[in-house]
Order: sequence, then structure tokens, then C-alpha cells
Amino acid sequence: MLPGAWLCWASLLLLARPAQPCPMGCDCFVQEVFCSDDLATIPPDIPPHATDIVFVETLFTMVETRAFGSNPNLSKVVFLNTQLRHFGPDAFGGLPKLEDLEITGSSFSNLSANIFSNLTSLRKFTLNFNMLEALPEGLFQHMPALESLHLQGNWLQALPRRLFQPLTRLKTLNLAQNLLAQLPEELFHPLTSLQSLKLSNNALSGLPQGVFGKLGSLQELFLDGNKISELPLAVFSQLFRLERLWLQHNVITHLPLPIFSSLGNLTFLSLQGNMLRVLPAGLFAHTPRLVGLSLSHNQLETVAEGAFAHLSNLSSLVLSHNTIAHLPAGIFRDLQELVKLYLGSNNLTALHPALFQNLSKLELLSLSKNQLSTLPEGIFEANYNLFNLALHGNPWQCDCHLAYLFNWLQQYTDQLLNIQAYCAGPAYLKGQVVPALKEEQLVCPVTRDRLGFRVTWLDDRKAGSSWDLAVQERAAHSQCTYSNPEGTVVLACDQAWCRWLNVQLSPQQGSPGLRYNASQEWDLRSSCGSLRVTVSIEARAAGP
Ligand SMILES: *[C@@H]1O[C@H](CO)[C@@H](O)[C@H](O)[C@H]1NC(C)=O
Ligand SMILES: *[C@@H]1O[C@H](CO)[C@@H](O)[C@H](O)[C@H]1NC(C)=O
Ligand SMILES: *[C@@H]1O[C@H](CO)[C@@H](O)[C@H](O)[C@H]1NC(C)=O
Ligand SMILES: *[C@@H]1O[C@H](CO)[C@@H](O)[C@H](O)[C@H]1NC(C)=O
Ligand SMILES: *[C@@H]1O[C@H](CO)[C@@H](O)[C@H](O)[C@H]1NC(C)=O
Ligand SMILES: *[C@@H]1O[C@H](CO)[C@@H](O)[C@H](O)[C@H]1NC(C)=O
Ligand SMILES: *[C@@H]1O[C@H](CO)[C@@H](O)[C@H](O)[C@H]1NC(C)=O
Ligand SMILES: *[C@@H]1O[C@H](CO)[C@@H](O)[C@H](O)[C@H]1NC(C)=O
Repeated sequence: MLPGAWLCWASLLLLARPAQPCPMGCDCFVQEVFCSDDLATIPPDIPPHATDIVFVETLFTMVETRAFGSNPNLSKVVFLNTQLRHFGPDAFGGLPKLEDLEITGSSFSNLSANIFSNLTSLRKFTLNFNMLEALPEGLFQHMPALESLHLQGNWLQALPRRLFQPLTRLKTLNLAQNLLAQLPEELFHPLTSLQSLKLSNNALSGLPQGVFGKLGSLQELFLDGNKISELPLAVFSQLFRLERLWLQHNVITHLPLPIFSSLGNLTFLSLQGNMLRVLPAGLFAHTPRLVGLSLSHNQLETVAEGAFAHLSNLSSLVLSHNTIAHLPAGIFRDLQELVKLYLGSNNLTALHPALFQNLSKLELLSLSKNQLSTLPEGIFEANYNLFNLALHGNPWQCDCHLAYLFNWLQQYTDQLLNIQAYCAGPAYLKGQVVPALKEEQLVCPVTRDRLGFRVTWLDDRKAGSSWDLAVQERAAHSQCTYSNPEGTVVLACDQAWCRWLNVQLSPQQGSPGLRYNASQEWDLRSSCGSLRVTVSIEARAAGP
């Protein structure tokens, strides 16, 4: 026999070796067993070397006392969406290596403390999305090694004061999506190792002053989606290591000034979706490590000059969806690291030219959905990295005052994506896209003391050439703007004077060719009435 053929035969033999017996309705892998059939009981013949067993959508309702006693090497037992309703005393007894126990998506509403006795190795315990309404005080009594406890998505309304007493090694506690309305002040006091606490989406309306008083190791605290309206002055005062604090979607109306003053390690804070009206100066004076701060969807009307002082590491600031009408010139002065600034959906009517002057790292700026009609000269002078600018939803006034923004957009137009800024006025430019205009269209009415014409001739020799007669001056807005139906001739007048005339003629569109001397009349209308304008052009012999 050839050596190659012999090898092949040997490996076939290996494959054909009779598999370890696997219970009906289960699949057995090296050390894992998955059971997902209509099993009526826990199978008695689970392979003895199994370390992990997972039941998915099985039909049995009961785990008897020491049900897994013949599999002492099990370290992980999981029930997902099963019909479990009853547990015998010491149901998971005899599993000295059990580290991870999960019962998720069943419909039991109560548990007795003796079910989980002697789980001395258990490190992770998950009881998510059941229908638990209450927990007995001694439930975790025999779980001294527990590091991670998940009780998300149950119907818990209250918790016994001493429930977590034995869990001094706990690092993660998830109580999100329950119906907790109140917390006993001492509840979390034993949890001196806790790093992450989730209380999101409960019904908490307030917090006892000392509830987090012993959580000196906490790094992450979720309080979002509750009904908290006020926070006690010192509620966070012992959280020296806290890095992330989520307070979004509550009904907080005001924040006492020292509330964040112990949080020197805080990097992310969300206050989105509350009812804050003012942001006092000094609120963030002791949180210099903040990197992300969201205050969107509040009712902020003003923001104090020093509100963001010292936030020299802040990278993202979200102030959108408020009613801010004014921003102090120096408000962003200390934010040299700021990359993203969201100011959309506010009531801003004007911005100070120095508002963004220290923000040399700014890449994204949203000014959308405000009341801005123009932006001041030089406003983006220091923002070398700005490439994402949202301008839509503002009543841009496309006149001479918009020239800075227009030129800035022209210069960076390759980098800027999708500038949906439309002119709200003057009437004849309404609806035009700002970056698509020609600079000579951005004109202002002349004033009484400076009446003069600047005539711009475009290249007369090209087909379809046109010429513009435009007058530029910074001046008060006109009261009446007359125009012909096509919008090619516009005359702006106030009560006493007509101050501005704009004529666009295109020889190919039926207007007379204006090569040299010419004269033309138009009937113009406005809401004030109608009038007739005659323009005569006289060609000069030479000169520009
Ligand atoms: C359980 O694990 C130990 C140590 O890992 C091993 O010696 C023993 O054979 C295992 N028991 C079974 C039934 O597989
Ligand atoms: C809940 O209580 C009922 C009645 O006391 C009991 O029959 C049932 O086994 C308990 N369920 C659990 C999961 O402990
Ligand atoms: C708890 O487990 C230990 C070691 O596995 C065992 O010796 C002891 O008898 C158990 N106690 C109870 C009450 O089950
Ligand atoms: C930040 O946390 C470290 C431990 O991670 C701690 O030593 C330090 O005091 C904390 N800083 C402040 C300002 O609280
Ligand atoms: C800002 O971030 C840098 C780099 O992550 C860090 O070295 C510095 O200490 C931080 N500044 C403050 C005030 O925390
Ligand atoms: C903000 O603007 C909205 C829409 O323009 C207006 O209804 C509201 O009254 C303004 N609020 C304030 C405080 O100015
Ligand atoms: C920010 O700008 C102000 C005014 O120009 C300047 O005095 C200050 O030094 C700048 N701050 C930083 C941190 O760059
Ligand atoms: C335009 O009119 C001026 C004065 O009315 C006249 O001197 C000049 O020759 C005219 N030019 C042309 C090209 O008709």
C-alpha cells in the first residue's frame, strides 16, 4: 500500500469514530452542549466533560434540586426564552465551577432565596427580561465571588435595603428597564468595587442624597430615561473616579452649581433631553477632562459667558434643539480641542465675528435651522480644519453682507459636502442655492448719502453674454421692491428714495442687444404699486 493512501485511510477512521453520546434534542461540541428542542425535562445524559450548556426555547418548566449534579465541571449554564417557572431549592447546587448563570426571557415573577444557595464560584449572574416583580433580601447571600449582575428588563418596583449586602466584589450592576421609582439610600453602600451602574429607563423621580456615597470605584453611571427633576447637591460628591455620566431624557429643570464639582475624572456627560433653562457659569469648572458634552433638546435660552471655561479637552459639544438666541463672544474661548460643535435648531439671529476664533481643530459645525441671515466677515478665519458645515434652514439674505460666507464657500467648496443654504431674500434670489450664485449678485441698496453705480460688464463677446448693472452699498433694507415678472429687473425703494437697481439682460433671451448705445423701458410691480423704469446706456469711446 502506498504511504499516502494509508494516511488517508487513517484520517477517515478518525472521522468515523463514534461520537460521544449526545442527548436527544441537543447538539454537542467539544465541551459545549446546545439544547433547543421540545425537551420536556433537563436531559439526564449530558456528556460528563461538558463545561457549557445552553437551552434555547425549550419547553420544560422546572429545574429540580441539584439538577446538574452529575456534571460537576459545568462552568456556564444558560436558559434563553424558555418556559422555566419553577426551581427547586439549591437548583444549581453541586456545581463548584459554575461561573456564569443566565436565565433570560422566561416569565416567572418571583424567586425564593434558597434556589441559588452555595454558588460560591459564580462571577456572572444574568436574569434579564423575565417578569420579576420583587427579589427576596437573601437572594445573593451565597454568591461572594459575583462580579457582574444583570437584572435588566424586569418589573421590579422596589428593592430590599440589604439586597446587595454580600456583593462586595461586584463590578457591574444592570437594573435598567425596570419600574423602580425609589431607591433605599443604603442599597448600593456595600458595592465598594462597583465600576458600572445602570439605572436607565426606570421611574426614578429623585435620588437620596447619599445613594452613591460609597461608590468610590464607579466609572460609569446611567440614570437616563427616568423622571428625575432635581438632583441633590451632593449626590455625586464621592464619585471621584466617575468617567461617564448619563442623565439624558429626564426632566431636570436646574442644576445646583457644585453638582459636578467632585467629578475630576469625568470625560462624557449627557444632559440631552431635559428641561434646563440656564447653564450657570462655573458648572463645569471642576471637570477639565470632559471630552464629550451634550446639552441638546433642553430649553436653554442663554448660556453664560464662562459656562464652558476650562474645558480644554472638550472634543464634542452639542447645544442643538434649544432656544438659544445669543452666544457671548468668548463662550468657546477655551475649547482648543473642539472638533465638533452642534448649534443647530436654535434661535440664533447673529454670531459674533470672534465666536469661533480659538477653535483651530474644529472640523464639523452645524448652524442649521436658526434665524441667521448672514455671517460676519472673518468668522471662520481660524478654523483651518473645518470641512463639514451645515447651513440649511436659515433665512440667508443674499446681499453684499453675505460676501464673506459666499467667498469662503467658493474657496472650500471642494471639501464641503452638500451645502444646502438657500437665499430667503431678496425676492428675486429667493430659493437660490448660495454657493451657486455669482458674486456680483450679492448687492445692497444704496443710501441717500452715497448714490453711485458700479457697472459690471461681463465678457460681451461670448454667446449668451449678459451684463449686470449693480449698485453696492451697505444700507438699510428697502421697503418696496419692484420687479418685472421675469425677475430680471429689480428696483428697491424706501418711502422717499429708490436706491437700488439691478438689471440683467441676456441678448439671446429676447432682450435687445446692448452692444453700444441702448435704451429700454420696463413696467415693474410690487406690493406698493407699479412704476415704469427707463434705462439708457451710452457707450463711451474707450476706457474700462
Ligand atoms: C472535570 O475537570 C477535571 C479538571 O479539568 C478533569 O480532570 C475531569 O476529568 C473532568 N471531569 C469530567 C467528568 O470530564
Ligand atoms: C413563585 O411562587 C409560587 C407560589 O409561591 C411558586 O409556586 C413558584 O415556584 C415560585 N416561582 C419561582 C420561580 O420561584
Ligand atoms: C457548598 O459547596 C461546598 C463545596 O462545593 C460543599 O462542601 C458544601 O456542602 C455546600 N453546602 C451546601 C449547603 O450545599
Ligand atoms: C481620578 O481617578 C484616579 C484613579 O483612577 C484618582 O487617583 C484621582 O484622584 C481621580 N482624579 C480626581 C481629580 O478626582
Ligand atoms: C487632556 O487630554 C490629554 C490627552 O488625553 C491628557 O494628557 C491631559 O491630561 C488632559 N487634560 C486634562 C485637563 O485632563
Ligand atoms: C424661537 O424660535 C421659534 C421659531 O422661530 C419661536 O417659535 C420661538 O418663540 C422662539 N423662542 C424664543 C425663546 O425666542
Ligand atoms: C483664545 O482667544 C483669546 C482672544 O483672542 C486669546 O486671548 C486666548 O489666549 C485664546 N485662548 C487660547 C487657549 O488659545
Ligand atoms: C452713442 O451716443 C452718443 C451721444 O448720444 C454718441 O456720441 C455716440 O456716437 C453713440 N455711439 C454709438 C456707437 O452709437
